[in-house]
Amino acid sequence: MANKFGLYHTGVNYNLAPLEKAYKCPKCQDREIVEVGVDSFNMPVYADCTCKAKNKAAKRLKSSGLRGEQLKYKLGDYRVNEGNRKMFEGVKRYLQTWPELIKSDAIAKGFFLAGNAGIGKTMLSCIIAKEMFNKGISVVFVSSADLFAELRQAQFSKDEEGIEVKIEALGKARALILDDISKEKPSEWVQSMYYRLIDLRYRNNLLTGFTSNYFPQELEERLGEFGEATVSRILGMTRDYFLSAKDHDHRIR
Ligand SMILES: Nc1ncnc2c1ncn2[C@@H]1O[C@H](COP(=O)(O)OP(=O)(O)OP(=O)(O)O)[C@@H](O)[C@H]1O
Ligand SMILES: [Mg+2]
Ligand SMILES: [Zn+2]
Repeated sequence: MANKFGLYHTGVNYNLAPLEKAYKCPKCQDREIVEVGVDSFNMPVYADCTCKAKNKAAKRLKSSGLRGEQLKYKLGDYRVNEGNRKMFEGVKRYLQTWPELIKSDAIAKGFFLAGNAGIGKTMLSCIIAKEMFNKGISVVFVSSADLFAELRQAQFSKDEEGIEVKIEALGKARALILDDISKEKPSEWVQSMYYRLIDLRYRNNLLTGFTSNYFPQELEERLGEFGEATVSRILGMTRDYFLSAKDHDHRIR
């Protein structure tokens, strides 16, 4: 109980040392708003803290799946030679046309980069993804190996709902780039998951990009019973930008 001066004399030590909690933004204590003054009625006036926009951008970046090294790739760093020129020119063209394609009703809005290891398929597809991200498109860049590790994990823990949620989310992302499709030989379950995801993308008429070490014929074989149906949809979605290269492995020299 406070006395008439508004002071407590309870004999209790309230121990009001600063709490340990560490805020990411000490300025607003992670409330994302700060008091900036008072109005003419002496009521506090608030504004967004500077951290709010930064948090939003960081969240967006996180959900794009693009990280670290992948964000540093630049088209200007790609060395062009006879083996990869066509793919490079195709990617350059695609960088000009995707903003129109994504708005259009065309089925073929996406791209497919095919060829041996270390020729810059991931590099170029990251550059495309980053460009989309910078233009405000919610793009998801996902390596097939990571995606299927995650899905298999969910399958092992009998998390049917987790699998559904993931597939549905990827099935409706505005733009999706599946890196290294069918890298490891897919089990029947994985084959059916690829089909489900790709069929969703196809039916929703959304922009989807692919990279692979495999050409369509091989891909079809690897995707087993679902191969024909899956590859047919992939080719439908990427028809105008099916780009391949044959170059030395840049990881080695
Ligand atoms: N033409 C190139 N000019 C400059 N750097 C390149 C070129 N091609 C590839 N690289 C570099 O080589 C490395 C491997 O490239 P990347 O990961 O894009 O290959 P990939 O085609 O996706 O291979 P994989 O099929 O094994 O996934 C990266 O560091 C990339 O930046
Ligand atoms: Mg790659
Ligand atoms: Zn803040």
